[in-house]
Amino acid sequence: MISKRKFMAVSTAIFITGAAPGFSQSTPSLKDAFKKDFGIGTALNNAQIEERDPQMTAFIARQFNMATPENIMKSALIHPKWDTYDFSMGDKLIEFGKKHNIKINGHTLIWHSQLPPFIRGIHSQDSIRSFFTDHIKTVAGHYKGKVFSWDVVNEALNEDGTLRKSVFLQYLGDNYITDAFRLAQEASPGTELYYNDYNNEQPAKRAGCIALIKKVKEAGVRIDGVGIQGHWHVGKLPLKDIEESIIQYAALGMKVMITELDIDVLPRNFQGADVSQRMTANEQSNPYAAGLPDTVQQQLAADYEALFNLLLKHKDKVTRVTFWGVNDGNSWLNNWPIRGRTNYPLLFDRANQPKPAFEKVIAATK
Ligand code: XIL
Repeated sequence: MISKRKFMAVSTAIFITGAAPGFSQSTPSLKDAFKKDFGIGTALNNAQIEERDPQMTAFIARQFNMATPENIMKSALIHPKWDTYDFSMGDKLIEFGKKHNIKINGHTLIWHSQLPPFIRGIHSQDSIRSFFTDHIKTVAGHYKGKVFSWDVVNEALNEDGTLRKSVFLQYLGDNYITDAFRLAQEASPGTELYYNDYNNEQPAKRAGCIALIKKVKEAGVRIDGVGIQGHWHVGKLPLKDIEESIIQYAALGMKVMITELDIDVLPRNFQGADVSQRMTANEQSNPYAAGLPDTVQQQLAADYEALFNLLLKHKDKVTRVTFWGVNDGNSWLNNWPIRGRTNYPLLFDRANQPKPAFEKVIAATK
């Protein structure tokens, strides 16, 4: 319990800095600004789905018209034991979406990370096949008519465009991706079905992604779109690769989405978003704990401006842009690839106040 004295101190601090959580009616709404262009989404965490903070709920409803669960539909959480599924949080998210007019993108059916622990004890092809089939049928079936779309398969590719040697590839062979889309289509016919990955704007991985899409299509199985996660780094946005990827994916008839957008401002010695990759902390790894220097703030704003100008140029091909978190305080980049850092990758600060990058993104629509 928070003591009354502490509460007074906190509320006074909020008053003095003017950083009241919530939003001001004068702050434009992203979803309204991009209404004619593409959907605007956010990742949602447990506290947000459970509406623990009414101001946060109102803020989300005002800014976003699409949402992706940050964790709760991953197999470890939704399918914790061999024959036990837990739909409680997912169902709350569906209610949240209905109540606030937000379309839900299910994330994700088949992914090699955040798997339930019991998978480690399975060493037969038959058992992996049963897990794979039951999982897709049960989860996609449960949310049939409730989610707008599914990330059917997530991160199946290596950086060189070959297939990642996941448990699924090892036991099921290279048709498993087509099988996943076929099962998802059967279980949830009206739902849009996507392939999602990071770095799939990079030429080699993109070529692998194109081959993957073609293989699914050639089998006569439906695939509706491709998600480029968009975990990028400040000052290093691969705009040319992004543009070429949008054009090439769209030429295959794919809807193109940026599905997990954030722009990391902290030191990093690798590219991409492999959740199992970690870095060791040192004295230089958390440089902005006391605040973001203006030069970096301006670079971040310029990056977001250039990116949204590009996405608007291709608004006939881009159907959605989803940020991986509502505000800087929620971002997974505060804890990955090093725990406990202070990152600033999104458009809203820790009190949901718009940052210079937000102003640039809104201005890009004018
Ligand atoms: C991240 C979540 O944000 C973290 O909370 C979790 O600990 C690890 O996963 N690619 C994806 C997302 O597809 O599901 C990942 O989300 C980030 C990288």
